[in-house]
Amino acid sequence: MPAYALNPAIDGQEPRKAGPFVKWAGGKTSLLAELHKHVPGRLRGYHEPFVGGGALFFSLRPRRAFLADSNGELIHTYQQVRDQVCGVLDALSLHVYERSHFERVRALDPVELPPSERAARFIYLNKTCFNGLWRVNRAGRFNVPFGRYKAPTFLDPGALIRASQALKGAQIQHAPFELSLQKARPGDFVYLDPPYDPVSATASFTSYTQDSFGWEDQERLAAACAALNRRGVRFLLSNSATDRVRRLYRGFEQRIVHAPRHVSCKADGRGRVDELLVFNG
Ligand SMILES: C[S@@+](CC[C@H](N)C(=O)[O-])C[C@H]1O[C@@H](n2cnc3c(N)ncnc32)[C@H](O)[C@@H]1O
Repeated sequence: MPAYALNPAIDGQEPRKAGPFVKWAGGKTSLLAELHKHVPGRLRGYHEPFVGGGALFFSLRPRRAFLADSNGELIHTYQQVRDQVCGVLDALSLHVYERSHFERVRALDPVELPPSERAARFIYLNKTCFNGLWRVNRAGRFNVPFGRYKAPTFLDPGALIRASQALKGAQIQHAPFELSLQKARPGDFVYLDPPYDPVSATASFTSYTQDSFGWEDQERLAAACAALNRRGVRFLLSNSATDRVRRLYRGFEQRIVHAPRHVSCKADGRGRVDELLVFNG
């Protein structure tokens, strides 16, 4: 019998809240209080087309949620955590934190694995690789090196079950933002957290998937926000507060907020950074 099929010690034991189950570059946990100020009191449909770790989604737990991302492995994992959490936990329990095991798992082709094992591989690599980064080579293969931790918690049944419960009923789509935004209806709310416009040439952190997110993507995103506004959809967008991003959204409300930055390869990249919030209404 699978170890996590019927374990009352795990299910329903803790009243703790659901939260992100992956570490994600640009994760918004530290900015939640600021983001909450711009979320409507009554949520109809909630959309996150750049869901990443989903910090805002998990903090709000909206009833009608549409989550999407262009990272197919991430989205597959969300779907498995929602639908097959016991299978994912079983598969995770077979992993160990050792460099040779990590390298063997990293070399596997995820597409050839059974669905739950594929999701477990993603979570295991995310929690044990260097800085929790997601980076792939030209062939689309994950290539982040082994990370040094005391005891990384890649197997956290309580957290994964809480995340699974929060995801029940959510529509989860592997799609670029233009496609997933088509589902937004008048009266809905959209939170957009794209890869940020780099504040300097070396600070670029946009290779989340094979395709990086360049300035033309930022322009298409601004056009998509203007279209949401015309359709009566409320939106909140976060980005870095560069001059050109501020110009791109000059027709909308803007606010600068300060957030501690955690994901950075360089020590001097840490510290407080200016972030821009853009919103309508
Ligand atoms: C800044 S992260 C989102 C972080 C998230 N808010 C959190 O709290 O963890 C940006 C996300 O956008 C996704 N992404 C990049 N290009 C995209 C595109 N064209 N369409 C949809 N998602 C995209 C990346 O895979 C990444 O997960």
